[in-house]
Amino acid sequence: MRSALLPTCFLLSNLPLLLAQTATPQEPVPAVPPQAASALPQGALPEAAVPQGAPEVVASAPAAAQDAASKEAAPKSAAATKVSYSSCTVEGQYLAMTFDDGPHPQHTPRLLDMLKQRGIKATFFVVGQNAAQYPEILKRMAAEGHELANHSYSHPILNPLGEGGIREQLDKTHQAVLSATGVTMKLLRPPYGALTENMRRWTYQTFGYRTILWDVDPLDWKVRDAARVQSEILGHARAGSIVLAHDIHKSTVDAMPETLDALAAKGFKFVTVSELIAMDKPAAPKPAAAPVAKTAPKPAVKPTAKKDAPAAPKLVAAPTKSAPSTTSPKAAPAKSSAGSSVKAEATVSTPAPVAKKPAKMTDEELRKRWLESINR
Ligand code: NI
Repeated sequence: MRSALLPTCFLLSNLPLLLAQTATPQEPVPAVPPQAASALPQGALPEAAVPQGAPEVVASAPAAAQDAASKEAAPKSAAATKVSYSSCTVEGQYLAMTFDDGPHPQHTPRLLDMLKQRGIKATFFVVGQNAAQYPEILKRMAAEGHELANHSYSHPILNPLGEGGIREQLDKTHQAVLSATGVTMKLLRPPYGALTENMRRWTYQTFGYRTILWDVDPLDWKVRDAARVQSEILGHARAGSIVLAHDIHKSTVDAMPETLDALAAKGFKFVTVSELIAMDKPAAPKPAAAPVAKTAPKPAVKPTAKKDAPAAPKLVAAPTKSAPSTTSPKAAPAKSSAGSSVKAEATVSTPAPVAKKPAKMTDEELRKRWLESINR
């Protein structure tokens, strides 16, 4: 999503990217690949965008027969299929390196060299307008065994676009990649990781795309520091991980040789996302009553703020009592004065809902942030 330290020429050459939708004519949008057309429910866009870096797995039933499911477009099959992944459960030290937002004319080929030297296969979630601009790089990716996947055409927040807009974004990228390489992509990573569960099902049924998020996010678009990118990845990678990175940033690519070598030294083997998914063995839903504790929810990159104990109803009443004074929902640093005990509790519990979900950004803010980062 981001880029930095880029020479002016790059910025200029990428101006079209910044103009979003506009760019590259590209052929008319033909009917798309697999599955039957969807006469699905859902056309509206419910939930807010998933905050960046907050992977989320669709709560659909664990994958059973992926192939079988992908051949039946029936809503039921999709409902029974796992259509979204942020990591996998695999036997062995396998993980998938993924690179978003490219291809980039300089950084991506450099990365491809590094991968080639090490015999590593990665997955590239390409932005369609870049793909259309650098078909040769796409060809090279495909020729060298990497997986190509869809990251939209102009990197918008998809949800607000509705089915029609999303279809156009995915279609145009599909065409760009197909015409350059002959490859029909199987995976989608929505920009900012934002796509509602309903739309994830819809894209699966309509395009055959599974939605791929991540469980390791070095925030490389933000932290333009190769050493930190490396340490973040090394610190969080585990078997089955899907590592998010961006091949449009010099610092990210700079970090790769040592990162990849260190991962390999730790015993990790690199596979594409589709290969990782093929190895996925969803934890068997152990029937017994056993303590659930063992299967701790996947180690998130960052321990999301713990929920505080739900505020007791009495706390709600408290503020009322102490006068509607200082309104702010965010409990300010407690001022001693009124009933200290209530205050204390209130101070503890009030911030909870706020801190729980880190920075909820609006769609526009997400988009703006991305555009800014590209310019850095
Ligand atoms: Ni992106």
